Amino acid sequence: MARPRVLSGIQPTADSFHLGNYLGAVRQWVAMQETHDAFYCVVDLHAITVPTEPDALRRRSRVAAAQLFACGLDPEQSTVFVQSHVREHTELAWVLICLTGMGEAARMTQFKDKAAKFGESAASVGLFTYPILQAADILLYQANQVPVGVDQKQHVELTRDLGQRFNHRFGETFTLPEPFIPKEVEKITDLQNPTAKMSKSSSSPAGILDVLEQPGPLRKKVMRAVTDTGSEVLFDEENKPGVSNLLRIQSALTGTPIPDLVARYEGQGYGTFKKDVAEAVVETFAPIRERTEKLLSDEKELDRLLAIGAERASEVARRTMATVRERVGF
Ligand code: ADP
Ligand code: NA
Repeated sequence: MARPRVLSGIQPTADSFHLGNYLGAVRQWVAMQETHDAFYCVVDLHAITVPTEPDALRRRSRVAAAQLFACGLDPEQSTVFVQSHVREHTELAWVLICLTGMGEAARMTQFKDKAAKFGESAASVGLFTYPILQAADILLYQANQVPVGVDQKQHVELTRDLGQRFNHRFGETFTLPEPFIPKEVEKITDLQNPTAKMSKSSSSPAGILDVLEQPGPLRKKVMRAVTDTGSEVLFDEENKPGVSNLLRIQSALTGTPIPDLVARYEGQGYGTFKKDVAEAVVETFAPIRERTEKLLSDEKELDRLLAIGAERASEVARRTMATVRERVGF
């Protein structure tokens, strides 16, 4: 049987992935290339739904792509590409926008959260239609599965609704994707504010571990991570969110179950434990940073890899759009 096709994207909105992106998304993507026919894209069209500086966008798209390869995505095994390199995304998005009701779009709760940052009337129409572009990203490739966090489930539902609506109105065209919650999605929290998600929009850079950061600052951030006034290394999310987060990180990076780590650090206080967490982070990130830097310094090679991805993605996208155009009456 053919491998299920999976599609996922990441926004080029920062100069590096952080540990949450790595453990919660990219590492899963790497694992899925063994079991899935995987399409992974750097979603630069999504990035411009909020004001973006052109040079920063260009740079961040390349850095994101280079990091994906550096983290272990194999351009021969997976289709890794930049969304704007495949014109069919915007073309299909328009067709789907015309199938979406105003009320239906307005029900997407993520818009409300994101638009709240600008004030709803100042937010772009692009931000409003973001989930429909996402539906186009998925349907274009006839994806069977979409790995999602809980906050994205509503968007996959919309994708299914739009795919189904198109199929009913114009004839069977799209595969309806299933949301798929990867087994070990790690919820990594902010080192300075351990009850909040580690996020590039965190208030303090001290709370975020960036994949491309140097060992010195990485070690310092882990050593200064907020814990609590106690001294026991215990997994207790409610009373020890900081220590629990560090245990989750250490466990995810070393493959050691949390109870084994708790046993190892019994009676040792936080110092030794934090030092080991810092080393695990540095050991994981340093080779990724080195491979990323190497790829970024070889523009031709990165262009070549992205052209392979764009070509493979376009082949599928063109096929889907040819059917769509015909069915719609273009
Ligand atoms: P951010 O929250 O920093 O803006 P994104 O929303 O761009 O990051 O997330 C890209 C991917 O990384 C998503 O699949 C998301 O689920 C995952 N991710 C982001 N932050 C975390 C986190 N703190 N823990 C686990 N996964 C995360
Ligand atoms: Na986010």
